[in-house]
Amino acid sequence: MKSSLTPVHEIVRERYAQAARSTSSCCSPSSTLYPAELLTELPTDITDFSLGCGNPIAAANLKPGETVLDLGSGGGLDCFLSARRVRSVGKVIGVDMTPEMLERSRLNAARLGITNVEFREGYLENLPVEDHSVDVVISNCVINLSPDKPQVFREIFRVLKPGGRMAVSDVITNGSLPESIRSNMDAWGACVAGALDMQDYSQGLLQAGFEDVKIQPKNSSNELLQVLPVGQPFSAIISARKSA
Ligand SMILES: C[S@@+](CC[C@H](N)C(=O)[O-])C[C@H]1O[C@@H](n2cnc3c(N)ncnc32)[C@H](O)[C@@H]1O
Repeated sequence: MKSSLTPVHEIVRERYAQAARSTSSCCSPSSTLYPAELLTELPTDITDFSLGCGNPIAAANLKPGETVLDLGSGGGLDCFLSARRVRSVGKVIGVDMTPEMLERSRLNAARLGITNVEFREGYLENLPVEDHSVDVVISNCVINLSPDKPQVFREIFRVLKPGGRMAVSDVITNGSLPESIRSNMDAWGACVAGALDMQDYSQGLLQAGFEDVKIQPKNSSNELLQVLPVGQPFSAIISARKSA
C-alpha cells in the first residue's frame, strides 16, 4: 500500500477482529441510528451488529443502477441496505482490512442471497478499486480510525466518477482533542482519538479536490455546535461532490 501499514492499523484491526467474533454492538445500538422501517428490511442479527455512528444511507440518496463503495464495511449492514436501493441493476462494494469482518459480511450476503454486493479486503489508504468507477462512497464510523486521512480523501476522490459524491457518517470534533487522548490507542480504536477537527476535515476534502463540502451534526443543529465544549467528539454526516 502507498502509506505503509502502521501500529494504528494493527491495533484497530485486532479490536475489530474481536468485534467480528462477538454478537454484540460496540458503539451505538442500530435502533438509535436508523429509522425502524429501514431495520425491518433485514434479519435482527444483522441489524443488531452495527458499529456505526450514524445513517449514511439517508444522506446518500441512492438510486437504482448506481455503484456504491462502503469504506470499512464491517458486518455489511450498510452494504445490504444500499444493495436494495441500487437494485439488481446497481452494485455495492464493501472494503475492509479485517479478515474476520470480511468473513462475517460474506456469510451474511450468502445467507441473504444478495448477489449485487461484493466484499474486498483492503485499506482505505489504498483502495482495491479502479479509478473513476464509483457513483457514491459511503462509510460509517471508519475514516476517524485511519492514521492518514489526507490519503483516504485522495483515494475517495480517485475512485469516484466525475460528478460522483460521498456521504459518510463519522466522528469529528470542533477543536483539537487533548494530546493525552490522541495518543491513547484504546480511545483510537473506540472511534474517539482519531477524530479530526471539523475545519481540518473540510479543508482536507477541499485539498483532495472535492466541492460542496457539507458537515451536518447528527441529532443536533448547527447552532448547538457553537456551545459544544472545544475538542468534544460528535457524530456528523459529511457530504461532498467531485466536479462533473
Ligand atoms: C467502527 S467499525 C464500522 C463498521 C461498519 N461500517 C458499521 O457501521 O458497522 C470500523 C470498520 O472499519 C475497518 N477499518 C478500520 N480502519 C480501516 C482501514 N484503514 N482500512 C480498511 N478498513 C478499516 C475495521 O476493520 C472495521 O470493520
